[in-house]
Amino acid sequence: CGIFGYVGDESAGPIVYRGLETLEYRGYDSAGLALREDGTEALTIAKRAGEVDELSVPEGPSSTCAIGHTRWSTHGPPTDANAHPHTDCANSVAVVHNGIVENHEQLAADLPDHEFTSETDTEVIPHLLEETLESDGLRSDGGSQAAGTTDVPVALRRGVESVTDRLDGSYAVAAVHAGSDCIVATRQESPLVVGHGDDASYLASDVPALVEHTRDVTYLEDGDVAVLQAGTVTVYRDGTVIEPEISTIDWDAEAAQKGGYDHYMRKEIHEQPSALRQALGSRVDVNAGTASLDVDFPQGYLESIQEIQLLAMGTSYYAGRYAATLFESLADVRATPIMASEYSYTGGRDPWRTLSIAVTQSGETADTLGALREASAAGARTMGVTNTLGSSVTREADDALFIRAGPEIGVAATKTFASQVSTLALLAIAVGRERGALSAAAAREHLEDLTGLPGAIQQVLDEEDRIRETAHELADSDAFFFVGREYGYPVALEGALKLKEISYDHAEGFASGELKHGPLALVTPETPVLAVLTDGAHPQETLNNVAEVQARGAPAIGVTSGTLEGGTLDEAFEVPDAGIFEPLVANVYFQLFAYHIANAKGRSIDKPRNLAKSVTVE
Ligand code: G6P
Repeated sequence: CGIFGYVGDESAGPIVYRGLETLEYRGYDSAGLALREDGTEALTIAKRAGEVDELSVPEGPSSTCAIGHTRWSTHGPPTDANAHPHTDCANSVAVVHNGIVENHEQLAADLPDHEFTSETDTEVIPHLLEETLESDGLRSDGGSQAAGTTDVPVALRRGVESVTDRLDGSYAVAAVHAGSDCIVATRQESPLVVGHGDDASYLASDVPALVEHTRDVTYLEDGDVAVLQAGTVTVYRDGTVIEPEISTIDWDAEAAQKGGYDHYMRKEIHEQPSALRQALGSRVDVNAGTASLDVDFPQGYLESIQEIQLLAMGTSYYAGRYAATLFESLADVRATPIMASEYSYTGGRDPWRTLSIAVTQSGETADTLGALREASAAGARTMGVTNTLGSSVTREADDALFIRAGPEIGVAATKTFASQVSTLALLAIAVGRERGALSAAAAREHLEDLTGLPGAIQQVLDEEDRIRETAHELADSDAFFFVGREYGYPVALEGALKLKEISYDHAEGFASGELKHGPLALVTPETPVLAVLTDGAHPQETLNNVAEVQARGAPAIGVTSGTLEGGTLDEAFEVPDAGIFEPLVANVYFQLFAYHIANAKGRSIDKPRNLAKSVTVE
């Protein structure tokens, strides 16, 4: 989601609206504004489902202080009521929020007298603020009384501090009160940047929205509370005022749109650690060896199922293939990845006691929805695993599981692959535990590996210069082959897909053992072979296949978990220890490899020719 705030001496509505337009890449399913009216000391709220350009700035009130939000739904589908800002009962406080309040249900249970008007996790925040402000002597039943009884900025800051103390999860929050021109903002694991102007102060989720107003910014740290007034920003850390560190932005406007990256794809590759923290976050209890996913299967259902089908297309299909192996090995259940467009033609299924999982980032892919409908009609229980709450798949499937990757703009899917596999891994662990197929100790080990993924992927991202160099050296090759076994196989397929999608080079993925049964005829010194040689991918066996291509003169590039016995790679890249998820980490090298080849060739990386992000025709 994107947050923008302004307090100064100009009309706030149009400035905040423009900020939301710039932040729309962070979410675009709903948008809204809260304007603090000058003089009348009331809040005017305008919000609705849809993109920012479907929202209008209210014309009536004059306002020099406002906050706004552009939403990417996590809790509650994109509807007018669920759009931000959210307010308290008296309409005296408005709040915008980015992130997830994990304990919102428990917190709401403590507020029996409050009427909730949305299905969001956010709405609990203004109601808690209302309670806190009242107990601090700030009456919520009218701006002028409020302003008269106590110092609004002080009370609002104290209120935000005490409410956010009670929140579990990640958040960036901004609040305004009817009683004063002031914005109070804080963050925990969600970005928030303050912009310093001469007579105005700004707040945004990301720098791109600030650069047209000011180049002097302060990146808030977790737990910092900022009080913004016209031209003054006071930052509190642990209750004490600190001197905010001011950085100067020197990006040009276009780079700023992409957070300093040349392409959304590269930005999204680099967002994988934070996307995975969101996907795994509070769902995992490593010590208990459990994963909780907010999916209620009927009693005894998971023990009874005989097959899990994974229905998907493109990158999601390869994530489904990875997951199928996870289900087979961790949950001891037959699991079949099926290219959704082929689903009608597959025979011999017994939908009774089958769980059909549609894996789809957008939730709108026609082939995948078609397969889901057929599975449902045949009697299977259905589930959608998606990045898009409120999408068709969430409405049509019996259950929905959200991968929480945040918006992905680049047509070539990157971070959503990692989030799909990780979220499905949690499901496989939960199903394995429920079916008695996975011991608590084994579950703990896998969960530890999963929670280590953000750090492991960061280490790979830190090696970007080396992989860029290798990509540039090999960019003029005739074709590229990717090989792997077990969990390395879907990653080989995905590595090849990424490269062909954005570089337009010929690239193919094979199971390592398959090479000698035909594809070897294509191997020459001009066809580099990229191999997954990590744990979870049977590196020693694949190394034998690598030797076969090297014997034909092909350069061999391997992603390894360390030393391998025998065989010498032309270039080796290492991944940190992550058990059966090491191939998922290796995939990040393949993403960067594809990106840098395509970039060296000047391809249209974010919008490759002939492709679309969401294909809604069969
Ligand atoms: C299109 C996109 C691919 C994507 C596939 C499935 O082909 O270009 O990047 O993997 O659709 O999309 P979905 O939204 O269902 O995951």
